[in-house]
Amino acid sequence: MTELRTAGVIGWPIKHSLSPKMHNYWLKAYGIAGDYIPMPVQPDNLGETMRTLKDKGICGVNLTVPHKELVLPFLDEIDETARQIGAVNTVMVTPGGKLIGTNTDAYGFAENLRQAGALKPKGKAVVLGAGGAARAVCKALVDEGYRLVIANRTPDKARAIAKTFGSSEAVGWEQRGAVLADADLLVNTTSLGLEKQPPLEIDLTLLPKEAVVTDIVYAPLKTPLLAEAEKRGNITVDGLGMLMHQGVPGFEAWFGKRPLVDAALREHLLHG
Ligand code: ATR
Repeated sequence: MTELRTAGVIGWPIKHSLSPKMHNYWLKAYGIAGDYIPMPVQPDNLGETMRTLKDKGICGVNLTVPHKELVLPFLDEIDETARQIGAVNTVMVTPGGKLIGTNTDAYGFAENLRQAGALKPKGKAVVLGAGGAARAVCKALVDEGYRLVIANRTPDKARAIAKTFGSSEAVGWEQRGAVLADADLLVNTTSLGLEKQPPLEIDLTLLPKEAVVTDIVYAPLKTPLLAEAEKRGNITVDGLGMLMHQGVPGFEAWFGKRPLVDAALREHLLHG
C-alpha cells in the first residue's frame, strides 16, 4: 500500500491562498497519493501547531502571512538562505520529528524572471519596499549579480537590507522616481497596489523603455503599476509566477517529484 503523504499551508487568514489548488493539481497530475491542506492558525497557536505536525502525520508545511518570521523560534534548523532573509516559508518534518526550515521565495522570484527571459546579470534593479518580501527579492537579485537601489518609506529598513546583502544602496522613498534612470529592473514589494490598498504612486518618466517591471503580488494580477508600465512599452512580469515557482522545492521535498511550472498550471490557478 502506498503511504498517503500530507502537507499544508499555515496562515491567518488562509482561505485566499492558492497553494492548496496548486499542490493538489500537481499531486493529481503526477498520480501521487497525497494531500495538501489549508491550515488556518492564529499567531498564538503557531507554536502548538508546529509541535504537533509530526503526530498529525504531516510531512511538511508552507508558511504565509503573518507566520514567516514568527515561526523561527519553533524550528530545529534553518538553512543559510532562510537565515539571511530572516523568514521561513517552507518546512520539512523529518521522520524523527525535526522541523527544518528554508525560504524558497528568493528562488521563486528569480525563476519567475528567468522563465520570462527577464533576468539581466550585472544589471541595476530598483526595489521598492524593505519588508519581509523585499528581503527575499534582494537576496535573489544580489545572487543573480544585480546592483540594487532600495527605496523605502522607512529608510532604516532599506539600509539594514543593503547592509545584509551588499551590492546595494538605500535611498529615501521620495527618490523612487529619480533612481529609475538606467535601471534594468523595477520591482514593487510594497503592499501598494494590492487589492483594497491604495495604488503605488511613482513617476516612471526616467525608466528606460527596455527595463522590466514586476510586482510580487498577484491579486490583482495586473496591478496599476504593471498596467502603467505596459502602456509605456515596458516588459512586465506579474506575481503569479513567483507563487508557482516558490512551491517547487517544497513539493519535491515532501512528495519526491520536481513539479513543472507551465501554462497549464497557470490556467488552472486562474480559471480552473
Ligand atoms: P511583506 O512581508 O509583504 O514585505 P511588510 O513587511 O509589512 O510586508 O512590508 C510592507 C512594505 O510596504 C514595507 O516596505 C512598507 O514600508 P515601511 O517599511 O515604511 O512600513 C511598505 N508600505 C506599506 N504601506 C506603504 C505606504 N502607504 N507608502 C509607502 N510604503 C508602504
